[in-house]
Amino acid sequence: MRLNTSLLIGFSAAVLGFMKRPSTCPRTPQDATRYDAKLPNLFVFASGRPVNTVADFQCRQREVSELFQTLELGIKPGRPNAVHGSLSGGNLTVTVSVHGKSISFTPTVSYPPNGVAPYPAVIAFGALTIPAPSGVVIITYNNDEIAAQQNQSSRGQGKFFELYPNLKVNGAMTAWAWGVSRILDALESMPDTNIDSKKVAVTGCSRDGKGALFAGALESRIALTIPQESGSGGTACWRLSDYENHNGTTQTASEIVQENVWFATQFDEFANNTVDTLPFDHHMLAGLVAPRGLLVIDNIGYEWLGPWSSFGCMKTARRIYQAVGAPDHLGYSMSPSHLHCSFPSYKLPQLQVFVDKFLFDKASDTDFFMPAGYITFDNAQWVDWSTPNLF
Ligand SMILES: *[C@@H]1O[C@H](CO)[C@@H](O)[C@H](O)[C@H]1NC(C)=O
Ligand SMILES: *[C@@H]1O[C@H](CO)[C@@H](O)[C@H](O)[C@H]1NC(C)=O
Ligand SMILES: *[C@@H]1O[C@H](CO)[C@@H](O)[C@H](O)[C@H]1NC(C)=O
Ligand SMILES: *[C@@H]1O[C@H](CO)[C@@H](O)[C@H](O)[C@H]1NC(C)=O
Repeated sequence: MRLNTSLLIGFSAAVLGFMKRPSTCPRTPQDATRYDAKLPNLFVFASGRPVNTVADFQCRQREVSELFQTLELGIKPGRPNAVHGSLSGGNLTVTVSVHGKSISFTPTVSYPPNGVAPYPAVIAFGALTIPAPSGVVIITYNNDEIAAQQNQSSRGQGKFFELYPNLKVNGAMTAWAWGVSRILDALESMPDTNIDSKKVAVTGCSRDGKGALFAGALESRIALTIPQESGSGGTACWRLSDYENHNGTTQTASEIVQENVWFATQFDEFANNTVDTLPFDHHMLAGLVAPRGLLVIDNIGYEWLGPWSSFGCMKTARRIYQAVGAPDHLGYSMSPSHLHCSFPSYKLPQLQVFVDKFLFDKASDTDFFMPAGYITFDNAQWVDWSTPNLF
């Protein structure tokens, strides 16, 4: 699928449509769980009503976000009473106040040696594991101090929980996404930083790649989301990881909830019993990012990461992007085996075209979907819905 002008006009119309939030969306039913061994359909509301228009799609995104937060992640609180930012040297101190309590955290900011202000920025979870794009500010975000992720004892530990003690059941990833939102709040109030808060990407690898994907899914101000080797719990789908695990070498939901506190405690019930009653899977998590930029970087070399699961999940997610007229806004790049979280230099052009399009508004061809090896995905086995044209 190549770009042509009429399609481009369609895109902008669709994208503009996304900015206007419809005031009336159907209510999410009290209990939206139901058995579905295939990848659930994003194009039907939990009530059964079909998704026919872009406005419906936005409402459905809201519903799906609500379901992810309720059943898997924990609630992401809205805008706090006050967010204040100050930049000193390379330290961006973000102070957040909620009901008289406040916390501060300090991402570091590194300006590029070249480029033109106002600069786009990349927020890196933990440490940057992709090459720094030219002309882009790098904001390094210590997500672990917002919510810890050592082991099971990390539940409810971190600065987020000092502000929201009632949300200690939450997964760490909602808290991290909340922190990203606060960085954006701070940047929006600080034009003299010369950072363009409308041109911000988020990235991370492995567990932090899961975190980056959730941040992009739960914060619509993020322009570009780049999860790297995020595996099960990230760009892989729960149902597909269970299937891929026939050799016992792929991480599954039932393992992941024993290993760490990335997910909310209410997810345990699904993970322990069956993920087939979840009214979503992670193709729909990617669907929350649509039509914004999503570049998925995978590595076939680690069966633990569920490479087939991630490939099939993102292939299905691309149908969601296709429905809103932007299939090329989801790029998929899987490489043959290499060290976990290293970035092969031959992938640089793929990163660059996404950075050009979503951080610099430059026309570029981002239409690629590249698995490695002989990996294939049987749509008929996993998908029993068709893709509408909503734009
Ligand atoms: C930035 O923060 C680090 C760590 O807290 C500190 O060592 C350093 O002095 C700070 N730099 C500036 C310019 O404030
Ligand atoms: C969990 O991690 C913390 C911090 O590293 C450590 O002190 C503690 O012993 C660990 N607990 C378990 C049960 O492994
Ligand atoms: C599973 O095990 C079989 C037999 O050992 C092997 O050929 C195959 O590659 C393994 N599949 C995965 C997905 O690891
Ligand atoms: C899930 O399984 C683990 C390990 O058996 C157990 O500790 C936990 O209580 C279970 N939780 C739920 C909600 O079933």
